[in-house]
Amino acid sequence: MSVDTIRVQMGGLHLANPLLLASGVHGSSLVKVLQALRYGAGGAVTKSIGPEAREGYAEPTVVEVEGGMVNAAGLPNPGAERFALELGQLKGKRLPLFVSIFGADEEEFANVAEALDANDFVAFELNLSCPHVAGVGTEVGHDPELVARVVSAVKSETDKPVFAKLSPNTERLVEVAQAAVDSGADGLTAINTVKAMPIDVESGRPALSNGFGGLSGGAIRPIALRCVYELRERFDVPIMGCGGVSTWEHAVQFFLAGADAVQIGTATVRRLEIFNDINLGILAYMERKGFSALSEMVGASHLKGGLHEAPREPA
Ligand SMILES: Cc1cc2nc3c(=O)[nH]c(=O)nc-3n(C[C@H](O)[C@H](O)[C@H](O)COP(=O)(O)O)c2cc1C
Repeated sequence: MSVDTIRVQMGGLHLANPLLLASGVHGSSLVKVLQALRYGAGGAVTKSIGPEAREGYAEPTVVEVEGGMVNAAGLPNPGAERFALELGQLKGKRLPLFVSIFGADEEEFANVAEALDANDFVAFELNLSCPHVAGVGTEVGHDPELVARVVSAVKSETDKPVFAKLSPNTERLVEVAQAAVDSGADGLTAINTVKAMPIDVESGRPALSNGFGGLSGGAIRPIALRCVYELRERFDVPIMGCGGVSTWEHAVQFFLAGADAVQIGTATVRRLEIFNDINLGILAYMERKGFSALSEMVGASHLKGGLHEAPREPA
């Protein structure tokens, strides 16, 4: 079976395969992001970049728990102006790089998009969903009207495709997605981390310096799959699934739920080389099941007979 079988076309983008490095897990340096591409990722998303440099929270910012980890890094990043200089060094390289941005309102998002847009990368991802920084993240992403204004403002600054990254920490997931799509979002990413709090029994206090943070890793995969499934029921736009993927079976679960591509975060902390193995597993599964293109299995779990009925036509 040819590797062309797992090529992805979504939102005007062409990716060599459907696996991307998720935003932020390796911090804001581009080194790991570029390494992920060398290890077989079809794309990679940068750390979320805001209008000004931020230091982030004091340690501890990450705590391991069963099935994953809880982090509250506080969106440390160099700010848009400095990050634009870093991106400038990739000029002409034509990498499948997505730049993640955040802000408190439409003006801040638009300013960051404007500061970065002239560089060589393929798409923006809007972080509407960080659960542990007051004033940005989910406080933006739980408000459909604000999301509509943010997406419109960013779209007016760029011709690049714009993906809205959604939060699982709201009952208004579909409403927020609708606002993003109606305002011109080219695709959706689901999900960011799940709001959580580990507690340390020795100190008797929350284990993270910030108190609460975001749970990621295997424990959140069924939540992420449910979100992708709900979104695919309603929308024909490209969807990137994210949350708890560490094997090819997990990636396939997301395709069946309706994702066109899959992002991997936490599992890459232990093994950034994971992408090649998962791609090979997906290819072997497709061969065994008789799929000749990824789009044939996207959303197949929505059919009553599962894989035994004709798959949905690609959007
Ligand atoms: C340490 C850490 C930092 C993260 N930073 C960001 C970020 O800057 N922007 C963002 O949109 N998501 C961020 N995320 C969320 C991930 O991109 C991803 O949505 C989430 O971890 C679920 O995927 P996973 O279970 O594969 O890690 C971060 C996650 C972790 C663990």
